[in-house]
Amino acid sequence: MSKNRNILITGGAGFIGSHVVRLFVNKYPQYNIINLDALTYAGNLENLKDIENKPNYTFVKADICDYDTIVKIFNDYKIDSVIHLAAESHVDRSIKDPFIFAKTNVLGTLTLLQAAKEYWQAPYKDNLFYHISTDEVYGTLEFDGTFFTEDRKYEPHSPYSASKASSDHFVRAFHDTYGLPIIITNCSNNYGPYQFPEKLIPLFINNIRHNKPLPVYGKGENVRDWLFVEDHARAIDIIFHKGKVADTYNIGGFNEWKNIDLIKVIIKTVDRLLGKPEGTSLSLITYVTDRAGHDLRYAIDSTKLKNELGWEPSLQFEEGIEKTVKWYLENQQWLDNVTSGDYQVYYERMYK
Ligand code: NAD
Ligand code: TYD
Repeated sequence: MSKNRNILITGGAGFIGSHVVRLFVNKYPQYNIINLDALTYAGNLENLKDIENKPNYTFVKADICDYDTIVKIFNDYKIDSVIHLAAESHVDRSIKDPFIFAKTNVLGTLTLLQAAKEYWQAPYKDNLFYHISTDEVYGTLEFDGTFFTEDRKYEPHSPYSASKASSDHFVRAFHDTYGLPIIITNCSNNYGPYQFPEKLIPLFINNIRHNKPLPVYGKGENVRDWLFVEDHARAIDIIFHKGKVADTYNIGGFNEWKNIDLIKVIIKTVDRLLGKPEGTSLSLITYVTDRAGHDLRYAIDSTKLKNELGWEPSLQFEEGIEKTVKWYLENQQWLDNVTSGDYQVYYERMYK
């Protein structure tokens, strides 16, 4: 790869995207980072306040489904690589309204692929289309000690995971049909600062703080494999620079938690940091109707990434949870703004 790059990062105002943008802008002053985001309910430029004035950073408000605008952005910024994170990302929303998931995740990804293919042109020297996907495309596991490996067949169950699986297939098809240089990574559940409080961990921290019920789906026995978001961003950095074109890498923390056990750790940590006796908020646990089609267990085997590129998670889970809870408790204003929609005002003030 050449030294100077013009990298389009999509979804950079979202949870994981903002950590990736921050890492690349700070670590690689020689790269131009163009953050393209539609600023849906999940996108928030306040996430990037600390880097918004850096000379190698540009924000562009655009929809990945808008082909003409995407082509113009490739031309205007001479884009040579893409790290694609923009997506609809919440399973519960996909159950209620699957259409927007097909539109953004499938058609949006196809739009970007087509624009990249047309702008770059074969033989695609020094180009890369890096697609960020999820472990949820593999479906679900039993409690049998097995893991998702890269060669596992796709078996998505939710409209969200079906849309991500479909986008992964399009990305691979653009490699196999047109030779577009691509990489796909499938990561486990992320947690950390700047996650929209509809996902389990920030939702529960916020609810405990406000003494509101904690809705546990089913019996709370489903298992997820949790990774601190900065470790994911670090993996993306390594794979972007050293990953093998056309390959898939699984990213995960070997850190499985049954929901109810994780919820108890969150309760203890929030109670302690709020100065209450640990366990006070256990009474907020409320078992509710299970999520439709709820996958039982996710567990990622990231041995390939460790053996081939030397990546491992850097943070112990206890340390990551402590950091995360502290961040949400110290950033109540951020939580209030994203839940009320007030961050849109920030965009109007900064960028219009
Ligand atoms: P997020 O919902 O926090 O952020 C998504 C971002 O995409 C938002 O900023 C939103 O404004 C933007 N966006 C949505 N529709 C758009 C459109 N049409 N055009 C342009 N921008 C648009 O999501 P996240 O949790 O940060 O996830 C980022 C990516 O990582 C997604 O592709 C997701 O599937 C994948 N992923 C997430 C997790 C996780 O645990 N959160 C795990 C594995 C993979
Ligand atoms: P979530 O954060 O939505 O991520 P995903 O569905 O992509 O894994 O949910 C994590 C787990 O927590 C999942 O098993 C569903 C469960 N859950 C609840 O029990 N209650 C809730 O309010 C939420 C949002 C999730």
